[in-house]
Amino acid sequence: MLEIRNLSLSIPISNQAVLAVSELSLSLTEGSVLALVGESGCGKSLTAQSMLRLGEYQGVRRVEGDILLHNQSLFSMPDKQLRQVRGGSIAMIFQEPMTALNPVFSIGSQILEVIQLHTDLNPQQAHARALELLVDVGLQDGKSLLQQYPDALSGGMRQRILIAMAMAGNPEFIIADEPTTALDVSVQKRIIGLLRTLQQDKGLGMLLVTHDFGLVAEMADEVAVMYAGEIIEQGSVMDIFDFPAHPYTKALMNCRPESVKHGGRLAVIPGKVPAPGSWGQGCRFKSRCTFATDACNQHVALETWQQGTHQVRCIHVEAVRA
Ligand SMILES: Nc1ncnc2c1ncn2[C@@H]1O[C@H](COP(=O)(O)OP(=O)(O)O)[C@@H](O)[C@H]1O
Ligand SMILES: [Mg+2]
Repeated sequence: MLEIRNLSLSIPISNQAVLAVSELSLSLTEGSVLALVGESGCGKSLTAQSMLRLGEYQGVRRVEGDILLHNQSLFSMPDKQLRQVRGGSIAMIFQEPMTALNPVFSIGSQILEVIQLHTDLNPQQAHARALELLVDVGLQDGKSLLQQYPDALSGGMRQRILIAMAMAGNPEFIIADEPTTALDVSVQKRIIGLLRTLQQDKGLGMLLVTHDFGLVAEMADEVAVMYAGEIIEQGSVMDIFDFPAHPYTKALMNCRPESVKHGGRLAVIPGKVPAPGSWGQGCRFKSRCTFATDACNQHVALETWQQGTHQVRCIHVEAVRA
C-alpha cells in the first residue's frame, strides 16, 4: 500500500513558503485505480510528484504529514533506497512525453538504463526484456525502434515508450499525471486502453491525475476531487457519479462534453481556482458556489457522508442533493 497521510506541502513564492496542498490523505492499493480530479492549479501535480518526493527539486517542501510505502516513510528513507523506489516500486508517467525522454540518447539506451537500474539481468537478458516490454506496449518492430531517437517518433509512440520504461522496473504503483493530455483524441483512447490492460494484468495500484471525467468513468475504482489544495470529495466511482455531493464536483461533472445537450455549449464554472496564498477562511469554493451562505466562512471538515466510503467537505450537502 502507498499512503499519503495528512500531507501539507508548501511552494516558494517570492522567497516565502506558501501552503499549496493541505491536510491531504489518500491511499493507493494494489490492483485498483484512484483518480485525482480537479481544475488546473488545484495541486494535483504537486500531490502526484510528492509520492516520489520529486517536487523537492523545485522547492516544494513538506510542512506536515507523511507518505508511507508499505508502512515505511519516504521521508525517513535513505537516499539510495529512495532512488530504487523511484522507477522501481513506484513509477511515474508524465503529461508531456517529449520532455520526459532525453533527445540525445537512443530509445534503447534509455529503456536499458531503467532495466539495469532496477533488475539484475545481464546485458543480453536486458536487451530481450526491452524487446518484450515494447511488445507489451504494442510496439512491434522493437529491434529497429531501440536504435531510434525520441524526435523521430510520434507523440503516441513516445508515450508508449515511456509506459514501457515505467513497466521496466516491475512497479507495484504507477503515478500517471494527465498521461494523455498532450495526445490526439484517437491516440488518447488507445493509450488509455493500454494503461488499463497493463494495470489490470499486473495488478498495479494507480494514481491517475486527470480533469477528464470520461476517463475517470473508464478507468477508476475510486475518485478524489481536489480543489484549492485540498480534497473536497472522495469516494467510489459509484459514489461520485451517482451521488455527487459537493457543489464543485457537480459543477465539474456538468462540464463534461457528454453532458452537453445537443447543440449546447460546454459549461465552464464561472470564476477561477484561488491560488495558493489566497484561499481565505472557511470553504475555498464559496466565492464560486451557488449554495454559499455566511456559514461557509467557517472551517469545513471532510466528513463521511451516508455510508462508509463517501466523504464530503460541504455543510450544504443535503441542499445540494435535493
Ligand atoms: N515548484 C513550484 N513553485 C512554485 N509554485 C508552484 C510549484 N509547483 C506548483 N506551483 C503552484 O501550485 C499550484 C498547484 O499546482 P499544480 O499541482 O501543478 O496544479 P494542477 O496539477 O492541479 O494543475 C499552482 O498555483 C502552481 O502555480
Ligand atoms: Mg498538473
